[in-house]
Parts: sequence; C-alpha cells; structure tokens
Amino acid sequence: MPLTATDVRSLVRENILKLTPYSSARSEFKGKAEVLMDANESPFDTGINRYPHPKSPDVRARLAELKGVNLDQLMLGNGSDDLVDFVTRIFCRPGIDNVIALPPTFGMYKVSAAINDVEFRAVPLTPDFDIPMDKLMAQFDENSKVLWLCSPNNPSGNLMQTEKIEYLLEKFPGVVVLDEAYIEYIPERSFLPRLNEFPNLIITQTLSKAWGVAGIRLGAAYASPFIIKMMNGIKAPYNINVLTQQRALEILADEQGMRERITFLMQAREELAAALQEFEVVDHVFPSVTNFILVRFQNSDRVYQHLLEHGIVVRNQSKQPNCANCLRITVGTAEENARFLEVLSALNQL
Ligand SMILES: Cc1ncc(COP(=O)(O)O)c(C=O)c1O
Repeated sequence: MPLTATDVRSLVRENILKLTPYSSARSEFKGKAEVLMDANESPFDTGINRYPHPKSPDVRARLAELKGVNLDQLMLGNGSDDLVDFVTRIFCRPGIDNVIALPPTFGMYKVSAAINDVEFRAVPLTPDFDIPMDKLMAQFDENSKVLWLCSPNNPSGNLMQTEKIEYLLEKFPGVVVLDEAYIEYIPERSFLPRLNEFPNLIITQTLSKAWGVAGIRLGAAYASPFIIKMMNGIKAPYNINVLTQQRALEILADEQGMRERITFLMQAREELAAALQEFEVVDHVFPSVTNFILVRFQNSDRVYQHLLEHGIVVRNQSKQPNCANCLRITVGTAEENARFLEVLSALNQL
C-alpha cells in the first residue's frame, strides 16, 4: 500500500507545517491595480522594473496544459537543483533523518543532504545500472524521508524499471522523488499520468535539457496539492524572474520545435554510439535513451586529456561507483560530433 495523504502530512518537519510563508506585496491586495506604490520598486518603466508574479501563473498554466495536470499540482524552481533542496528541507530533520540515492547518479541529492546536515545513504546501482532491490530496501528505516530515483538516470543514460518504481512507491516509508530531467527523450515512460495514484510521489522535470534553455533556469515539481503547497511555502517569494517567465512561455509554445530537435539528437546519438563501438580505445558503450552516452574506455584519463588538449570537454565519471574509466559524452551538433570523432580517432592511431 502506498502512503496515504495523512501519512505524507506526518512526514513534514513540524516547523515547516507551522510556517507562515512570506506574504509578498503583490499577493496581498485584491482588485485592479492602476498605481503600484506597494513594493518599493522603481516607478520608471524599463520593462522589468516590477517584481515578477510570485507564482508564475502563465508558465504554470502552460505546463499544466502540456502535462495534463491541475494547476495546484505543480510549482516552479530556479532549475530543478532548487527543487532538490526544497524537498530535503521540507521533509528532513537535520541530524536525525536520512535520504537514500542510487549512485552513479545526479550529484545534487548528496550535496543537498550535506548542506542540510542530513544523512545520505548511497546504495550503488548494479554494474548494468539496475536497482538492487534487496540492498536498497535493507536501508529503509523510520527516519528515511526521501528516496531519490533518477529515470532516465544521469550518467548511465538508462531507465529504471517501471515495476521497481511502482514497488518502491508502495514500500518506501517517505516520499519518492522521481527525477525526470531527461524524460522528454522518452515521454511514454513518464510517471506524470500516474501522479494521483501515489500521494508520496514527487516528479521533477526541467527546461534545461530537451527544451534547450538551461540558461533561463527553470525546473518544475509535480506532486499532490499538499506537497506543492509545502514547496511553495518555502521558496523565495519571487524565485522565477520576469525574463525567465517570458522566455519560458515562448519556448513552451513551440513543442513541435522541441520534438524536431529531439529527433535529430536521438539519431545523432545512435550514430555516435555506433562510431564509438569501432574504436580500439573504447571498452564499452552503454545503451542510452537520453542526449548523452556513457562510455567505458581502456584508459579514460588519457582520452579525457587528449580531448581537452583539442578543446573538447566531456565529463569524467570514473570516480562514481561502477564507472571506472567512464566518460559521459553529451551529443552535440553534427559538426561537434564529427570533430569529436575525428579527434578521438587521432588518439586511436597513436
Ligand atoms: C538528473 C538531473 N536532474 C537535475 C538536473 C539539474 O537540472 P536543472 O538545470 O533544472 O537544475 C540535471 C542536470 O544535469 C540532471 O542531470
């Protein structure tokens, strides 16, 4: 049985449950504003002299429409990094509670735990990056508040199995965060359509990857109206700036453009993966459903250095569990991918 809404409420830190959130000038009045003398802004019109709307209603409405959720089931953060920290702060009592994650995975879950003085329990994925269910469940206790699942996972590029996610949603005693930063590359595997089934599920997504606007910093959390209310309660009052809200609306209007870019990237990823398999310096190319590929080389430091000497930066993952000699390569433009392969082939011939 998944946790009930009442169970989830009891997971929230007492001080957060009791919190009176900051009330911003603009959310305090009802009616039509003609003269704004309430927020100590500059009166001179620069297009951005006014604070943004604290809840970004237009962007949220567009996302709600795109994703098929209600407005009270989503809130926005300054990138999904921001959302990771909201979750840790809402549910975890410093020095008492613990969170669990499955490395190799996105690094912010651990950093957020460390910032908030929360115990971080790492249960490594298997060598083929699957969830080791027994080992994972052996780590659950009454102070386990957050389970971080990343699907598709960064840096391995694979999906976690649906049945395992379902089972964990039913068995974990706290909230399960499903990080879907790369879900647009494989939208049919999103858990969003199932949000209402699990009161302890929080899904995070971002505009930084497939939507192509990492620079504006916009992430979204989807959860029950209660969890969303808690998250809104602790965010900075105007956390999504005016320019970000404007650009987000423009980008989100062009879903077709996003799909076309994805089609290109998926094709380019397959070509890159196939080309990489042919290199002698390559040991293994891990299958990926995302816009990056994890590759195990015979000597990753040598390859990393060689690429860098030619101005190409990839991500060295060799310190992560089960990632010895692995580099993570993000798919680029056709020209960038060709240059990458050319530089790599020079190393192959040395
Ligand atoms: C799995 C995962 N989650 C979250 C993020 C952060 O995304 P954002 O740019 O929205 O903060 C990343 C970025 O690399 C990621 O790989």
